[in-house]
This record gives sequence, structure tokens and C-alpha cells, in this order.
Amino acid sequence: MTLVTDTKAPRIAIVGATGAVGNTLIGLIESRGLRYRSVHLVASARSAGTELTVDGVAYPVQAVDEFDFGQVDLAFFSAGTEASEQWVPKATEAGAVVIDNTIAYRMDPDTPLVVPQVNAHELDERPKSGVIANPNCSTIPLVRLLQGVERRWGIRQAVVSTYQAASGLGHPGVDELKDSSRAALESPGEEYPNKEFTPSLAFNVIPKIDRFLDTGFTLEEQKMLQESRKILGMPHLDVTTTCVRVPVVTGHSEAVWIEAQGVVDRDELVEVLAELPEVTVHDRESRREFPTPTTIDDPYRVHVGRVRVNPNNPRAFWLWLVADNLTIGAALNAIQIAEELIARDTL
Ligand SMILES: NC(=O)c1ccc[n+]([C@@H]2O[C@H](COP(=O)([O-])OP(=O)(O)OC[C@H]3O[C@@H](n4cnc5c(N)ncnc54)[C@H](OP(=O)(O)O)[C@@H]3O)[C@@H](O)[C@H]2O)c1
Repeated sequence: MTLVTDTKAPRIAIVGATGAVGNTLIGLIESRGLRYRSVHLVASARSAGTELTVDGVAYPVQAVDEFDFGQVDLAFFSAGTEASEQWVPKATEAGAVVIDNTIAYRMDPDTPLVVPQVNAHELDERPKSGVIANPNCSTIPLVRLLQGVERRWGIRQAVVSTYQAASGLGHPGVDELKDSSRAALESPGEEYPNKEFTPSLAFNVIPKIDRFLDTGFTLEEQKMLQESRKILGMPHLDVTTTCVRVPVVTGHSEAVWIEAQGVVDRDELVEVLAELPEVTVHDRESRREFPTPTTIDDPYRVHVGRVRVNPNNPRAFWLWLVADNLTIGAALNAIQIAEELIARDTL
């Protein structure tokens, strides 16, 4: 049990508790033994009154527009950007610190954008805005690796292609992938009324995530550049990406090409990556091993494989990474931010 009476333990709200990220947050609060004095589960009016359990205790879901944020010290938000824009200011005005999973505050100069393994020092003080932003789900695993390469060799450029799962769009994304795949098998040729993915994601890949910008890049691709620069404190970092949705339920993959400032020795690269916190390199036994979204055995680590130095340019190399988007890419990063705040007494 992590429900405690200790007055130092925070009172917590989870806004978006019924969603894919919210459900994962609840599971992590339980499994990591996060100590809390009270917990409040919040979502839209649609699910008000439904019951969810935390540590074996049933709690009714409360509608956000009726929720008093004065009751909590810490609020996790994963209810979409519009909900964050509307309700995060109410939470911070009421005195709560917010850990926000949406794009709403990520590039705000008064809001730290934090991956605890990379820039936890930004949590030494309570942020001016009262908000700590959780980065994009593909950016989090990438910057964790980029930091190791930057420290050892320096980075000239990184070129990334992502292979992002349907659960990146939450429960509705997963439901639509399953239903449209079933329909495509049962009634081939018949059009399925997709809402989340256009065109259909069933037996398909879609090289567009989020909306197109005037540059021709998508917002998802721009997020990966801007957020990587902010987290790593490298305003001129050159990261360019193509973000692709693939018919996988959970687990984002990325093919990453990095050109370093100096010549890279493959064995040393594997050592550097393997020594990064909570990273597993699937390489030591045999170079033919590789991680995939359905075969990784630990969703709390970044999995790396296919580490190859380019024989024609030994400063450049490829790697393949797989990271669970709901844990590493969202809920676990948020919980680790909370753990760091509690350890630093900056809540
Ligand atoms: N899925 C990922 O891999 C991932 C990764 C990083 C960040 N995120 C971000 O996290 C957020 C949630 O994603 P998700 O995947 O958990 O989505 P989801 O499964 O669709 O869940 C959405 C949650 O938000 C609630 N909600 C929606 N509109 C609301 C409103 N106006 N007011 C209050 N609550 C509202 C929903 O409540 P009801 O049940 O009442 O509708 C539900 O609890 C999104 O902003 C997303 O971009 C997701």
C-alpha cells in the first residue's frame, strides 16, 4: 500500500485517468510504490462516476469542471492539449505543481521540459510556471541516447525515421486499429469508417503524424527537433525526422543515423550506450539479436539493437531503438519526474 498519512507525501490528481496514459500512470503508482496522502481520479464529464481502483481502493472518477484543484499538491495531466490549456492554469493557481503530458507547455520558456535521465537538474527549483512538461513520446528515448553520444563524441547530425504505434493516439487509436484490421480481413475492399487514422492504418503505414506545417514537415517531426534541442540544451542540434504511424498496438521504434564529430569505434559505442541508465543493448551475445515492440521483455527500459558503424564514413553509425510509448514515452517519464521532485523537496 502506498496510501499513507505522512503529511510530507503529496496529495495527487490524475487528470485523464480513464485514458491509455492515465491507466498506465495508475499501474506505475502501484508498482513503484509512489507514496501519496490522497489520490483523485479526474476525466471528462463523460466518465464521471465510473470507478477505477488504485492500490486496491475503488475511487469514483470526477469531472474536471467540478474538481477542486486546491485539494492536491501534484496533478498529472494527460487529457489532451485543449484540456491542459483550459485546466492547468486552474491547477497551478490553486497551488498544485503540474506534470503535463501534452504539447501545451513544452516550449514555454518558464516550463522545464524534462527527461529525468538527461536533465533532472532542472527540477532543483520549483518551476516559475508551476508546470513541468513531459516531452513527446518519440523524443524521450532518442534524447536519452543522443546525450551519451554527444558527451563522448559530439553530434554533427542525427537523421531519424520513427515507426509509431497506434496507442500513441490512446484507447481510440488502438480500438480503431483492431476494428479496422478485423473489418479488412472479413470484408476486403469495403471502406472502413476511420476516425483516428487517415488513410486506414489496417495493414498500412502512414508517413504523417499530427498536422502538416508550411515547411512540409509535420508537427510531430517539428516537436522532435525543438524538444530535443530544449532538453539537451543544444539550440543548434541538427535532428531531422520522418515520423510514420505503423499498425503496432504499443511500442514506438526508431531507425537512428548519427554522424558524430569524431571516428566511432563500434565496441566502444556499444559500451557507451549500454552504460546509459535504463538502456538495454541487444548486442552483446550476438549481433543478430534485435528488439521489436512485441518482443521486448521490459517496458521500463529503452531497447537498442542493430548498432552499425558506416564502413564508408567511420564517424557515422546506425542504431535501432524500441521504447514503450505509454511507459517510457509518457507515464514512466512523468512518474520519474514526480519521484525527482519528491526527492528534492521541490513540490
Ligand atoms: N498515448 C501515448 O503514447 C501518449 C504519449 C505521450 C503523450 N500523450 C498525450 O497524453 C494525452 C492523453 O493521451 P491518451 O493516449 O491517454 O489518450 P486517451 O486514451 O484517448 O485518453 C484521454 C483521456 O483524457 C480525458 N479527456 C479527454 N478530453 C477531456 C476533457 N475535455 N476534459 C477532461 N478530460 C478529458 C479522457 O476522459 P474520458 O474517458 O472522460 O473521455 C481520457 O481520460 C494526449 O494529450 C496525448 O497527446 C500520449
